[in-house]
Amino acid sequence: MPSVLPDGENVPDDGALPPHALEGAGDRPLGFYLHVPYCATRCGYCDFNTYTASELRGAGGVLASRDNYADQVAEEIRLARKVLGDDPRPVRTVFVGGGTPTLLDAGDLVRMLGAVRDEFGLADDAEVTTEANPESVNPAYLAELREGGFNRISFGMQSAKQHVLKILDRTHTPGRPEACVAEARAAGFEHVNLDLIYGTPGETDDDWRASLDAAIGAGPDHVSAYALIVEEGTQLARRIRRGEVPMTDDDVHADRYLIADAAFEEAGFSWYEVSNWATSEAGRCLHNELYWRGADWWGAGPGAHSHVGGVRWWNVKHPGAYAAALGAGKSPGAGRELLAEEDRRVERILLELRLREGVELSILKPAGLAASRKALGDGLLDPASYEAGRAVLTLRGRLLADAVVRDLVD
Ligand SMILES: C[S@@+](CC[C@H](N)C(=O)[O-])C[C@H]1O[C@@H](n2cnc3c(N)ncnc32)[C@H](O)[C@@H]1O
Ligand code: SF4
Repeated sequence: MPSVLPDGENVPDDGALPPHALEGAGDRPLGFYLHVPYCATRCGYCDFNTYTASELRGAGGVLASRDNYADQVAEEIRLARKVLGDDPRPVRTVFVGGGTPTLLDAGDLVRMLGAVRDEFGLADDAEVTTEANPESVNPAYLAELREGGFNRISFGMQSAKQHVLKILDRTHTPGRPEACVAEARAAGFEHVNLDLIYGTPGETDDDWRASLDAAIGAGPDHVSAYALIVEEGTQLARRIRRGEVPMTDDDVHADRYLIADAAFEEAGFSWYEVSNWATSEAGRCLHNELYWRGADWWGAGPGAHSHVGGVRWWNVKHPGAYAAALGAGKSPGAGRELLAEEDRRVERILLELRLREGVELSILKPAGLAASRKALGDGLLDPASYEAGRAVLTLRGRLLADAVVRDLVD
């Protein structure tokens, strides 16, 4: 969740949605994202809406206390129940993300999940994930989460090399993320993800191979690998500007992506979204698939985004402002936009083209269709899928996914 919020129209105090948003809701799956906006320290590359204890001192700091955060989120979930009315859908996915969710007690995460269960009910096969930092969990903590209903966990590993972690301001004990996978399996987690970052200044191809080997060797059933984005306003961006560390390089990113894809495929992982690989269909992250396929999700917590039936809204960013809104019995929504049909078409192309199943050619306009023919000729789209009416990226196309998307939305 990026930290800069868009502009938009006001959200009413009671959070009510326009009636059309709930039309046909029964045919769409519903997920919950629960944001935890706290971190022990801020990593120099990270632009997410998260706060360290010292950043929360001062204005709004008392309200923004971690101690009653689970109660605030439960309050927003009760508001969601009122807004969605007698919507009978059980919740298909719950994803607790951050920040560092595991800075809270395991019991707090279980209570937030309990609020979703109490208000909406969970589908029998609901996917329930939390993100976790490797240093902030132990076997007892993981067991409590598992007993409380979590069945998927995602660890931020980023790299196996200490000098790379240092540039990223990460402080893992060597081998800790890999040990977390074993601890999560021992606690009974069915699905375990490791997040990796490639292209960090100072990382070599061999460093990246070592990280891939370590991640694969740990035995997760899902991996995410992201090119390092240098976000404006971060410490990393400042260090690069001052010349203290070199700028990241697109060609290096492309090489590292190819190395990663080859290593994952050889180890039995298949890509299903440009930055995500899983060992089976069941190992895919269903929650992210809800986002990518335009389903309905409610994002609770400061700065969280939601989408229901073509209405997209976002909450106030600061934890103090969030607590104050809920404390006053108001929606924490800061703004919203009603997506027009054209917005939704563009969004489908943006998101679905990055999936292994690709996007239907029938939703492209003439200029986009002409661009797709060119992309096909350039080897960026798969010929057999194209013949069958879908734009599906080839491996080369995945390297240039953003550019292909830009051309196809015209
Ligand atoms: C926002 S973090 C939350 C999870 C947890 N706090 C952690 O850091 O492991 C989710 C993931 O986003 C990715 N990420 C965050 N900032 C990034 C950036 N600037 N470039 C690439 N990936 C980034 C990291 O891989 C990270 O694991
Ligand atoms: S721990 Fe995760 S969320 Fe927190 S600052 Fe680091 S990358 Fe961002």
